[in-house]
Amino acid sequence: MLGRLNHVAIAVPDLATATAVYRDTLGAKVTAAQALPEHGVTVVFIDLGNTKVELLEPLGEKSPIAAFLEKNPSGGMHHVCYEVDDIVAARDRLKAGGARVLGDGNPKIGAHGKPVLFLHPKDFAGTLVELEQA
Ligand code: CO
Repeated sequence: MLGRLNHVAIAVPDLATATAVYRDTLGAKVTAAQALPEHGVTVVFIDLGNTKVELLEPLGEKSPIAAFLEKNPSGGMHHVCYEVDDIVAARDRLKAGGARVLGDGNPKIGAHGKPVLFLHPKDFAGTLVELEQA
């Protein structure tokens, strides 16, 4: 069921500063910032060739990463995103096995224009997992 690692996401308090660290200090290729109001974040992707890093900054009042940044004020690793061929089939299989899907359980369109879902960290070795349709 599980495919490639699509990205590792890092929540940051200041997207411009974090982007500059990756671009200037680390010499990485970075995208322009993209606001995703439906997800409550603004994102920048770092293209590493074999995978990506997603930098996340809170957007709006009820950002899902606000509490994480209160606990980790300088930022930190927030989630990993794995690709699946069929996100609805993957969700149904995981739910049948007792895993918890966050939100209303329906895929939303993510930063790459493809459906995504988030799975409860307590069911996945303490890590928030995002699934993205490949
Ligand atoms: Co992500």
